[in-house]
Amino acid sequence: MKVRQVKTVATSNKIIFKFLCELFIPSFKFVVWDKLTLHGTSTRPTKPDKNDVLKWLSLHKKHGTFPSRRAKIVIRVKGETRELVVDLITRSIVSNDMYRGHGYPPFTFTEFFQAIQLSLRYPQFQESISKRGLNISEVTCLPLTTGWFGEVVTRRVVRVTCFYRGGTTNIWSRPIEGVSLLIDVETMEVIKYSDRFRVPLPEAKDTDFQSQGPSTIFCTGNSSQLSIHGHEIRWANWRFHVAFHARAGVVISTASIYDSSKNKYRHVLYKGHVSETFVPYMDPTNEWYYRTFMDVGEFGFGRSASTLIPLVDCHGNALYMDGYMAGADGQAQKVSNAICIFERYTGDVSWRHTEVGVPGKVITSGEPEIDLVVRMVASVGNYDYILDWIFKKSGSVKVGVSLTGVLEMKAVNYASTNQITSEISGSLVAENTVADNHDHFLTYYLDLEIDGTKNSFIKAKLKTMPAKASPRKSYWRVVKETMKTEDDARIQIGFDPVELLIINPNKKTKIGNHVGYKLIPGRPAVSLLSDDDYPQIRAAYTKYQVWMTCYNKTETWAAGFYADRSHGDDGLAVWSRRNRPIVNKDLVLWYTVGFHHSPNQEDFPVMNTLYDGFELTPANFFDRNPVLTS
Ligand code: CU
Repeated sequence: MKVRQVKTVATSNKIIFKFLCELFIPSFKFVVWDKLTLHGTSTRPTKPDKNDVLKWLSLHKKHGTFPSRRAKIVIRVKGETRELVVDLITRSIVSNDMYRGHGYPPFTFTEFFQAIQLSLRYPQFQESISKRGLNISEVTCLPLTTGWFGEVVTRRVVRVTCFYRGGTTNIWSRPIEGVSLLIDVETMEVIKYSDRFRVPLPEAKDTDFQSQGPSTIFCTGNSSQLSIHGHEIRWANWRFHVAFHARAGVVISTASIYDSSKNKYRHVLYKGHVSETFVPYMDPTNEWYYRTFMDVGEFGFGRSASTLIPLVDCHGNALYMDGYMAGADGQAQKVSNAICIFERYTGDVSWRHTEVGVPGKVITSGEPEIDLVVRMVASVGNYDYILDWIFKKSGSVKVGVSLTGVLEMKAVNYASTNQITSEISGSLVAENTVADNHDHFLTYYLDLEIDGTKNSFIKAKLKTMPAKASPRKSYWRVVKETMKTEDDARIQIGFDPVELLIINPNKKTKIGNHVGYKLIPGRPAVSLLSDDDYPQIRAAYTKYQVWMTCYNKTETWAAGFYADRSHGDDGLAVWSRRNRPIVNKDLVLWYTVGFHHSPNQEDFPVMNTLYDGFELTPANFFDRNPVLTS
């Protein structure tokens, strides 16, 4: 990553700046302004033309290399947001625009660190701490994003809340309730200080959770089927590219699977990654109402990536990739071992059969399930998101999310449930400690490429039918319906018995079925907030679990490119409302993994993992079971 060149560009303009940039993306050519882009959208795409990338790959990268690479740089200077597109090969600025829409770019570690230091030095805060009989040297502060609630927004701010460590490592267990500081991160000044009330600090005994390390040694043998060349992974019948992105974290692209009957690789997924999150807390009080986080757009999963721990985070045979991104000063930052890749014997059965129908014989055969996992962990404040992409020889791709870490808690006067006299916003998980109810939504961007660029979206409804001329009264049959427009393709899972298929209407199997993949959803969970609630207006993408949109280079981030303090006038819901036709088009599937989290005592002081995900599995993609021929 050539960050130094980018810094030169900015300093040559003699400006003092802070910038936050997208991970550099290769590009073949300048892409003109996209006329479909709405007001408020980040506008100039840096992505290379998809056909150029696929052509380059099909030529096995031998005939010509990427001639140029481009990066979008977002600069905050004098209270304004400026976007530069930089050509990294010619070392030139391609475009230089002022952004005038709603919302701000993500926060940097530097800004968070400075806001914490400012809070701890703030005289009124120090006074509040000493009035409570606490020692300032044992206080940890956390800057939180503040959302948008209809007000006119003119400043990039964080609201800082603090905790008392009291000699332990579990900093979250003793919230100092009632005190907060609103800080402008650009002028780095406290613009509002509140100390509204006092609640006893939870005692929080025995809340340290430092592990003694892994107690089990796993297999450490290396996979003979796995090879990594640069960022290209080949394993079993799969071939794909893994990248690290400051905002999205791990990105899978150009995933294709080898079809031995056709003697070629066939495309499945052009690009997939987490697009946005939404984590609203269910507490409307003054100290908590604004906690409605969009971790990807407000901070970034890549920026929150943890260095992975062998034998805890990843299998003993794992191979690791480092992650690189631009820091707030323009210099490259490295996260060692940010992504791990490992083959895993799951202990499950891939397929089996016992046959007793052959006279004189009992024939049992089968194969174990062995898969390949690509994993990263984003530690965003108190929560840890374990993000998996799991590839199977069957052609399935399973995308999983495990939540763990420490709950966000508030101090209360109640030491036990029988003392509770007014509504609490969650569960009493320890003495004087309420863990607030909240949601986690992770919306995935899945630019599918089912055996070619042009695809269609099918609802296969399982319809109960009356049986005629039969002792039976009923049966079900599959009634397939092609979704015509983006309106048709907004789906809440779990209401109807339906299978969701993405097919290539231009390709059929030998016996005539349309080539396709099926979406196997996880548990149904959509946002329960009212449509007119400000956080929900901003996170309208969580009202449906499935959306399908037409591919557009600028439509990547479900809450819009500028998520912090956004107004909901950009993003997936707005794009979908254009209601573009989606039959035989280049399509993007959006899937939201959702959790309604009403905490229990077992979630305290540290949470065991909570898992959900979804799977994309072949549906008439192959002529027969590919496991038998891989
Ligand atoms: Cu949770």
